[in-house]
Amino acid sequence: MPADRRDDTPKAPLIRLADYRPPAWLVETTDLTFDLHPDATRVRARIDFTRNPDGPGGPLRLDGRGLRLLRASVNGEDVTDRLTLDAEGLTLDAPLPDAFVWECETVIAPAANTALEGLYLSNGMYCTQCEAQGFRKITYYPDRPDVMAVFSVRIEAPAELGTLLSNGEPGESGPLPGGRRYACWRDPWPKPSYLFALVAGDLRAVSDAFVTASGRKVALNVWVRPGDEDRCAYALDALKRAMRWDEEKYGREYDLSVFNIVAVDDFNMGAMENKGLNIFNSKYVLASPQTATDRDYELIESIVAHEYFHNWTGNRITCRDWFQLCLKEGLTVFRDQEFTADQRSAAVKRIEDVRQLRARQFREDAGPLAHPVRPDSYREINNFYTATVYEKGAEVIRMLRLLVGEETWRKGMDLYFERHDGQACAVEDWLKVFEDVSGRDLSQFKLWYEQAGTPRLRVREEWDGRALTLTLSQRVPPTPGQPDKKPMVIPVACGFLGQSGDEIAPRRLFELTEAEQSWRIELPERPTLSLLRGFSAPVILERDADPAERAFLLAHDSDPFNRWQAGAALAAEAIAAQTALRDGVPTLTPAPIAPGVVEALGKALRDETLDPAFRALILAPPSEDEIAQALFDRDGVVDPQVVHAARERWKDALTDALADDLAALRALHRPVGPYSPEAADAGRRALANGALALLARRPQGQADAAAQFAAADNMTDKLAALTALTHNGAPQADEALEAFRRQWAHDPLVMDKWRMIQATSPQPDAFARVKALSEAEDFQWRNPNRLRSLVGAFAMANPARFHAADGAPYRFYADWLLRMDKVNPQTAARMAGAFETWRRLDAGRQALARAQLQRIAAEPGLSRDLSEMVERMLDG
Ligand code: PHE
Ligand code: ZN
Repeated sequence: MPADRRDDTPKAPLIRLADYRPPAWLVETTDLTFDLHPDATRVRARIDFTRNPDGPGGPLRLDGRGLRLLRASVNGEDVTDRLTLDAEGLTLDAPLPDAFVWECETVIAPAANTALEGLYLSNGMYCTQCEAQGFRKITYYPDRPDVMAVFSVRIEAPAELGTLLSNGEPGESGPLPGGRRYACWRDPWPKPSYLFALVAGDLRAVSDAFVTASGRKVALNVWVRPGDEDRCAYALDALKRAMRWDEEKYGREYDLSVFNIVAVDDFNMGAMENKGLNIFNSKYVLASPQTATDRDYELIESIVAHEYFHNWTGNRITCRDWFQLCLKEGLTVFRDQEFTADQRSAAVKRIEDVRQLRARQFREDAGPLAHPVRPDSYREINNFYTATVYEKGAEVIRMLRLLVGEETWRKGMDLYFERHDGQACAVEDWLKVFEDVSGRDLSQFKLWYEQAGTPRLRVREEWDGRALTLTLSQRVPPTPGQPDKKPMVIPVACGFLGQSGDEIAPRRLFELTEAEQSWRIELPERPTLSLLRGFSAPVILERDADPAERAFLLAHDSDPFNRWQAGAALAAEAIAAQTALRDGVPTLTPAPIAPGVVEALGKALRDETLDPAFRALILAPPSEDEIAQALFDRDGVVDPQVVHAARERWKDALTDALADDLAALRALHRPVGPYSPEAADAGRRALANGALALLARRPQGQADAAAQFAAADNMTDKLAALTALTHNGAPQADEALEAFRRQWAHDPLVMDKWRMIQATSPQPDAFARVKALSEAEDFQWRNPNRLRSLVGAFAMANPARFHAADGAPYRFYADWLLRMDKVNPQTAARMAGAFETWRRLDAGRQALARAQLQRIAAEPGLSRDLSEMVERMLDG
C-alpha cells in the first residue's frame, strides 16, 4: 500500500467552525534540518514552544501523519517513550514548563509520496506542498494557521541537486564531505506552517531585479528544469508588473531581498504562495508563442499576480483557521481580477469572470456540493478549495467595495493592513475594519459569507407617465443543511436608457435589503432599464424581457457588461426555446430561431467601434452547462444531449445567417506580423478564431481551418484550427491530429492540449478515443495535469458524451476516480465534482450515476477526500 494511503478509519470526524479554540501552545522559532534522500529523508526539528496564556491549556498535542519518529526530547531530555502516537499525531501528557524546546527527528519517504502533499519528488526534483495540512507529513507540529513562527532551514543533499531553496533570505551554503552540499535559509517573517516550502533539484534560474518604491532591490528568479529557460520571460514580466501594481494600487511593497518562483511538473493545483518561494504547476509558468495559447498567457499573468498578491493578503495577514479560507482567497482573487482588468480590458475581464462564475460557481451553488463562502463544517479541508470560496468570495469583496465606495474601500484596506499585519484573522476582523471606516452596520452583509445558494432577483416595473416604480424582490433557494434563508443585501446598479439609447438619468445603486422593496424614480420618459450593471451582485436575474428590448440594450447600453449580457441572454433564450418537455421528457422542438435575434448579434459583430475581444465574447455561445442550469430551473429535468443539439442548432443558425460577416471578420482581424501575447492582438485572434469555429461547420471553412493549421506560427491559431477541424468532424481532422502529435510528442504540456481537444469533441467517437488514449502505454496518468486534461476534461467539458444514456462513461470515470484515489486522493476528490449535476438528470441517468457514486462510496480504504465528496453528492 502506498505510504500516503490513509488508514481505513471508519469515517473522518466533522470539524466545526463553532468548535474553534485558540492553540494551547505557541511557537516562537522553528528550526528544521533536512537530510534529503528519496526513500529516507531525515528531518530534525527544533521548536520553541511557549504556553498560550489565552489558550485552553492541556497536554502537548502535535499533528503528524505518515512519519517515522526516531527520537524526541524536551529541553534536551529524551521523551520518546512517554509519547502516545496515533494516526493523526502525538500527545505528550507530562507536566511541562511554560516555555520549552522540543526536538525531534523523523524519517519520511519523498519518492513514495504520490499524493503530492508534504515533501515529494517530481521528476527527480524535491518539492513541498503544505497548504492546507501537508506540513504534518514532514514533521510533528501544531499544523494550524494561527500558530505563526520564524523559520530557519538547513538543507543537506547530494551535490547534483544544485539548487537548494527554502523561504526567506539565503544564508550560508557550501560543500559537505561525501559529494554533498548544504544551504541555509531564514525567513524573518513569522508564518504558519502551511507557507513552509523547500525545493531541491537540478534547476536553472532566469533572473531579473526589481527596485521597490522605497528603493530596495529585490532579486527575482524563475527556476525551471534545464532546457526550459526560454519559456520564462512572460512569467517574470508578469511578476514585475504585479509587484508594481500592488505598490501603486495599495501601497504594498515586497518585504524580502529575494523572490523565487519554481515550476514543477507534478502539482495538484495551479500554484502556491509559500513565503518568498512560490511553487507553480509548470503549466502556469512556461510559455512560448509556439507552445502556449493566448489563454495560457493570460492565466500565467493572473496566477503569477495572484500568488504574489498573497504576500500581503494571506501571508502577512493569514487565516485564523481553515474556515476563514475566503479571507485570503476571495480577497486575493479580487485583487488579481483587478490587476488583469488594469493590464488588459476591464470590460472583457469582467465578462470572462462572470462567465466562469456562472459556469463553475452557480453550478456548485445549485447542487449537492453547495456550501457558504465560509463553510461551517468539513471533514477534509482540501475539498473546500472551491469556486464558491474563491470566485464567489471575490464577488463578495466586489460588492463590499461597491457599497462603501472606492475611497472608503482604499481606507479600509489601509486599516486592515495596519491593524492586522502579522496576525491570523477571521472574517469578523475583516468586516469590523470596514464597519469602522464606513460607519455602516455590516451584519446583514455578513450573510453573504454564511448563506449558500445563488439568490434569485425578480423585477417589476410600473410607469405612470411621470415616474417609474421599480420593485425588486429576492429569494434564496434552499441548499444542503440550510432550508430557510434570510434576505441578503443585494446591490443593484441600474441605468436608465431613453428611446434614443442615451442615458436619461444618472446611474443608481439600489440596495435591496428586504424580501421585497420598491423605489419611485421620476424620469422624463419611460426608460429601458439596464439592471445589475457590471454584474453588481452574484445573483440570477429573473426577468422576462422581450427580444426587442434585449436587442436595444445590445445596441445601446453604455455599460459593456450589460451590453454583452443582452446578447448572451438572446442566445440563451433562443437555445432554450429549441427544447420543451413532451410527456415530461426533454425534447427538441421545431421552433425556428427568429432572424431578428441573429441579426441583433450580427449588428454588434460588425460594429468596428467595438473591441474585437468584446465581440469575440458576443460571438461565443453560452456553455452547455449554463444552458442546462437554466433549463433545469424551467423544466426540473435536463437531457444533456438535447441541450447539445439545441446549441448546435443555434450555431448553425448563426453560421447560415452570418457566413459572410464571419468570413469578413476573420479576414480583417487575423493579426499580421510576429506573435505578441498582448491583449489587443489576443482579442483579434479570439474574434478571428471564433468566426473560424463556426465557419468550420461547412466544407469551405474546414479547408480554411486546415490551411490555418498548416500555416500557423503560434499555438493559439494552431490549436483553434485543430479544434475547429476535430470538433466539426472534418475529413482533415485525423491527419492534422497526427501531424500535431508527431510535432509535439516530446512536450507533455502541449500533448495535454492535444488530448483535451479529443476529450471535449462532440463527435460520436469521443468516448472511444478517450478510452483508447487513457489506456495508451505512454499516458502518465499519475500526473494530475495529464489525467485532468483527458479524463477530467471529458467528464467536465463534454456533457453530451459524458452523459451517454447507457451510463458507460460514468462507469469508466468512476473506475478512474478509484484508481487515482489510491495514488492521489486530493486530485481524485476534485475530479469527482464532475458528478455534482447528477440530480438534474432524468430518472434513468440518475440511477446510473447514483450506482457509480455508491460503488465508489463502498470501496474499502477510500480516502477521506473522495469519501466526503461522494457522500455529500449522494446525501445533498
Ligand atoms: N493557496 C493556493 C492559491 O490559491 C492554492 C492551493 C491550495 C495550492 C492548496 C495548493 C494546495 O493560491
Ligand atoms: Zn490563492
